[in-house]
Amino acid sequence: MGASVSDQLTAEDAQWAAVTAAKLEAKFAAERDRVGSRIPYIAVDGRYEEDMAVTFPGWWTNGFWPGILWQMFHATGDPSYMTPARTIEETTLDGVIAAYEKLDHDVGFLWLLSAVADWRLTRNEASRVRGLHVATVLAGRFNPIGRFIRAWNEPGREGWAIVDSMMNIPLLFWATDETGDPRFAEVARLHADTMLANVVRADGSCNHIVCFDPATGEFEKAPAGQGYEAGSSWSRGQAWGIFGFARAYRHTGDERYLDAAKRVAHYFCSQVALTGGIALVDFRQPAEPKVFDAIASCVAADGLIELAELVPEAERAFYRQWAMLILRAVADRACDFDPARDGVVQLCSDKYHDGRIHVPIIYADYFLLEAVLRLQGRAVDLW
Ligand code: GLY
Repeated sequence: MGASVSDQLTAEDAQWAAVTAAKLEAKFAAERDRVGSRIPYIAVDGRYEEDMAVTFPGWWTNGFWPGILWQMFHATGDPSYMTPARTIEETTLDGVIAAYEKLDHDVGFLWLLSAVADWRLTRNEASRVRGLHVATVLAGRFNPIGRFIRAWNEPGREGWAIVDSMMNIPLLFWATDETGDPRFAEVARLHADTMLANVVRADGSCNHIVCFDPATGEFEKAPAGQGYEAGSSWSRGQAWGIFGFARAYRHTGDERYLDAAKRVAHYFCSQVALTGGIALVDFRQPAEPKVFDAIASCVAADGLIELAELVPEAERAFYRQWAMLILRAVADRACDFDPARDGVVQLCSDKYHDGRIHVPIIYADYFLLEAVLRLQGRAVDLW
């Protein structure tokens, strides 16, 4: 489907990608030596002090460090990246599977980038089994009345689904590819249809959370979630929508998902045009204070690269050029490439209200690395 973005680049963009990839490789080699099989989340004063393997082993971002290690292993062939990634998979993450209570819809983020990556790259059979095990958990969260995958486990949230889930359902498409059992992909498709109908608005902006009556499937409300207020536009939610619906199209060939990804992408690009490529946390937040979230920019850029590979040739330049504009903005205005300090992307914010703002958060680095490696044709496809 489509042409690899690495074959679409101008010489200048290819040069930029090579220089940026070299900076990232130096940075992640140093972080691998300092962090090893601990699990980083937010860097403080240039150091990942907290080990999420100890403080919150089931936290949804705990697959991104193994994901960085697997991308680096694939791009460089250096086996020293594999050892800590495998250790995290076999110790911390197996503990999360065994504990069960912390398993929610984010099993996709956690295991696609750890065990499934391991399986894809090394054919380690135990990793494949882990992936199938958590895919079964994800499929088991499907509510057949409302046709959605339940997001979180808290009592009272039985009917909640969120746009972020579009990046979890590739685990189900993988499970069908792996087993030949169509049920996984069918659950993913039904969920994507519900998200399409209830999350993506006519203007291309997205709701973060949608709540249904779990017993009848009736739509109830769409609260603010991590954005400013109900009806506003949390930028990372838009970014998950771009990448997630583009992936749903890649896996199914259903043009409605491609159209949705394009619509959300056009809206996202129109908004970051106002801030030179670095997303505000919410595109409809008050004018002041200006709170940014470079994670949204990194995820969206990766999703725009995905679109550049999926659309017909006449449409590719739009998505590729926007991806380049956003990536260059992030690298120029929001990155610390010094290998002596932990954390690359600095202007990350976890939510609009009461969150950590303008700090380095691990998954911005994952999506930046994946995007830059894709520009070079050196990424492993993990979604
Ligand atoms: N998936 C949760 C977030 O983007 O913060």
